[in-house]
Amino acid sequence: MHRRDFAALAGAATVSGLPGWLSATAQQPVRVNGERLNRHLAELAAHGRSPTGTNRAAYTDADLSGREYVTGLLREAGLDVRMDTAANIFGRREGSQRGLPAILLGSHIDSVPDGGNYDGDVGSLGAIEVARTLGERRISTRHPIEVVIFQNEEGGTIGSKLMAAGLTEAELDGVARSGKTIREGTRLLGGDPARLSEARRSPGDYLCYFELHIEQGGILDEAGIKIGVVEGIVGIRWYEVTIRGFANHAGTTPMDRRKDAMLAAARLTVAVNEITRAIPGRQVATVGRITALPGTVNVIPGQVVLTIDLRDMSVATMTLATGRFHDAARRIEAETGTSITFRDLSTNEPAPTDPRLRRVITESARALGLSSREMPSGAGHDAQEVARIAPIAMIFVPSVRGISHSPEELSRPEDITNGANVLLQSVLAVDRTGLGR
Ligand code: HGY
Ligand code: MN
Ligand code: MN
Repeated sequence: MHRRDFAALAGAATVSGLPGWLSATAQQPVRVNGERLNRHLAELAAHGRSPTGTNRAAYTDADLSGREYVTGLLREAGLDVRMDTAANIFGRREGSQRGLPAILLGSHIDSVPDGGNYDGDVGSLGAIEVARTLGERRISTRHPIEVVIFQNEEGGTIGSKLMAAGLTEAELDGVARSGKTIREGTRLLGGDPARLSEARRSPGDYLCYFELHIEQGGILDEAGIKIGVVEGIVGIRWYEVTIRGFANHAGTTPMDRRKDAMLAAARLTVAVNEITRAIPGRQVATVGRITALPGTVNVIPGQVVLTIDLRDMSVATMTLATGRFHDAARRIEAETGTSITFRDLSTNEPAPTDPRLRRVITESARALGLSSREMPSGAGHDAQEVARIAPIAMIFVPSVRGISHSPEELSRPEDITNGANVLLQSVLAVDRTGLGR
């Protein structure tokens, strides 16, 4: 599409009468304040900073103070701020045309333990910066704009699930990393577990959802490409596996008379890796957490609990791999005299993005002189839950050396600013045309 055509697509009425993406002076696409955006990222990083990385797990004091900080930014951006009963924070800017569904954009600010300062933060603060720029430049949009900060994304996209699908009573009793249940944590943040149905949204409530996010992998950084246009987000299966053996004396129990839960756990960990690698495709699986009881040097572990994180774009592949994990568990039980049970911790379905929105993002990047490529997301995101009720799109910016969920997570300030500018232009373009064809 020629730049002039894109101008027609992207234009939005403004006070000056110029298309929304053209500033009144420089005939340049209106742009976010990149210095301010990166300064806000640095300020948010202080909430949960620790010697081992960012610790802003959901439902902790750091999460509370981080949420308070971004709520202040939403207010500074001139937005009407509210929290839904699921403890998701929203900032809303009205549109000029009555009765149109809002354009939703946002992400999360909770982190993994010992995490970085960009996962979720870039999309959350980038969305706020876009809304703030629209207000400062007095650019009116036809559709309302809603910025959302979802709660507890790292614990299984909890806030977006509560908005788009709801959680079962058993899921609400699940224990988060902070040690609080989802129900307790939601209440702590200011939500109301007794009225979660009021947080539910339905198809048609939003025109679409944009999420700006760091890639969390190395494709863009290695290729020197500035913008990732996400084709789809992988499905995720989290399992908790409990292995029961028999705790006994490490010194007096002969090797052939043991029911060693740790041995069984080690064999299952190897099996998960080998099964996943043996299936053709790009699926991945990780044993990320293991705890042994009684967990002391001179006792054979009587119980081990470990987690499995399995991901792929194909449900069939994840089902196949899961079946083989169970087959391996049966074999290992017989070999070690233990019992092995699986429990579903969390499920996210694979979510394709909307091709119309992908085109808008690609054109927005092009109009800004930025290289882009389409690519899958190996990381899970709130967008895959929002996909249940609205067309979704994700914009990736490079992660230096592809590192994420680590204190070494890093995205360059200019790349972050680029991503926010592509987000701004994409929102304006969709506002102008709706979702048309
Ligand atoms: O686990 C994920 O992929 C995401 O970062 N929560
Ligand atoms: Mn994230
Ligand atoms: Mn993450």
